[in-house]
Amino acid sequence: MAERLVIFDTTLRDGEQSPGASMTRDEKLRIARQLERLKVDVIEAGFAASSNGDFECVKAISEMVRDSTVCSLARANDRDISRAAEALKPASSGRLHLFLATSALHMEKKLRMTPEQVFEQARLSVRFARNLMSDIEFSPEDGYRSDPDFLCRVIEAVIAEGATTINVPDTVGYAVPELYGNFIRNLRERIPNSDKAVWSVHCHNDLGMAVANSLAGVKIGGARQVECTINGLGERAGNCSLEEVVMAVKTRRDYFDLDVGIDTRHILAASRLVSQITGFVVQPNKAVVGANAFAHASGIHQDGVLKARDTYEIMRAEDVGWSANKIVMGKLSGRNAFKQRLQELGVVMESETDINNAFVRFKDLADRKSEIFDEDILALVSDESLSHDHEQYGFVSLSQHSETGERPQANIVFTVDGKEVKSQSDGNGPVDASLKAIELHVKSGAEMVLYSVNAISGSTESQGEVTVRLQNSGRVVNGVGADPDIVVASAKAYLSALNKLQSKADRVAAQG
Ligand code: KIV
Ligand code: ZN
Repeated sequence: MAERLVIFDTTLRDGEQSPGASMTRDEKLRIARQLERLKVDVIEAGFAASSNGDFECVKAISEMVRDSTVCSLARANDRDISRAAEALKPASSGRLHLFLATSALHMEKKLRMTPEQVFEQARLSVRFARNLMSDIEFSPEDGYRSDPDFLCRVIEAVIAEGATTINVPDTVGYAVPELYGNFIRNLRERIPNSDKAVWSVHCHNDLGMAVANSLAGVKIGGARQVECTINGLGERAGNCSLEEVVMAVKTRRDYFDLDVGIDTRHILAASRLVSQITGFVVQPNKAVVGANAFAHASGIHQDGVLKARDTYEIMRAEDVGWSANKIVMGKLSGRNAFKQRLQELGVVMESETDINNAFVRFKDLADRKSEIFDEDILALVSDESLSHDHEQYGFVSLSQHSETGERPQANIVFTVDGKEVKSQSDGNGPVDASLKAIELHVKSGAEMVLYSVNAISGSTESQGEVTVRLQNSGRVVNGVGADPDIVVASAKAYLSALNKLQSKADRVAAQG
């Protein structure tokens, strides 16, 4: 029987560290649910000690997830470790992930500690953690740029103290596949107790080699855990992408000879969810989940695929969740059909009231748009601008006028703490006028750092999905709104971003 490759997803921790990708508690819970559906082995839910918000998220995810191990990152100190263990208490299976930098550069310049101090702290922190939990991962941060002799000493000591997984991060994305693979192999060969732990790879994508490096760590180095994120989300150029690494191991099983437990049919839904929530659009030519990943535009390819699929296809689109872009529903579809489609799409609605509300929105959309695609339904249920009771701002209605040669005008009605307010403004274009009208009343002072519109299902009849990224007092948030009218979608996205700016979060700068 083939050995198992553990898939450790860090979308909610390392992925969230990407500027502009911060997520609310509800968003994290939705992603965690999808990761569990995907059958990810380990979900790194956050960095519990970094803020009260992160603590609550790790705790809520630990309460909800039953089938995956839930993990929290912690610096190698007693306070962080206790806080993480506390947040993980409700988990059916929990893991503490301790990290401490071991490269000369990080120890001297960042930690201002001697190697001996780092050695002692690493050892004692694992000893402390081991008293609280049995599943302990240790990461020597910037491991790949660390002195191998020192790294061997540290790793041997933490395994002796009870660390069960050793993760060797290429924190700055400096590695190349062969060297990284050999690096891991040498460590495993030199460290006498290396067989007492599972070895793990964690690669950043600064040189575009995160997936290749991770696979080399597995193939050459013998690692049996890969740390990755949906869509490769992560700091700077991102992390190793889950969908790519999983499909590489599955498609080339002849070469890797490893099993992965992932239910790949949920990959696309996970990719879309993460993209919608973070506003990080997936490039069309992205492997596995990009819009063109299975599209054959050239006549020669189309002809070949029609004659025999495997002439140009090495994976089946449906195995990663693609279905033909078919019209799934229309104006006459009933509530039961809608509910069933939600289930098929993997959307879990907490209550019948939520389903009823979503159905009303579906009917409203079907009145305005004759063909409703899966993408429309997903956008509809994730539309964050729908006034939630606990949110400060909610969209009500909008009218705008624009004509060639005239300055556009917008009149908007929205709610502030449940009370309707009206505001109007002119602007460079109808979107600008509408957002200025909101800002005139709200006076958030936030700076817009990103505005993007994406046609959900490709045609002009499509819904527009708008992402607005706002920055205020050092916080960066994304708001997403969808509507067939892109001006309305923009107003919804702006209000959604303002709602997120309201939720205060003071977090310790996440590292790694
Ligand atoms: O990149 C990194 O070094 C990390 C560690 C905290 C594991 O994310
Ligand atoms: Zn990282």
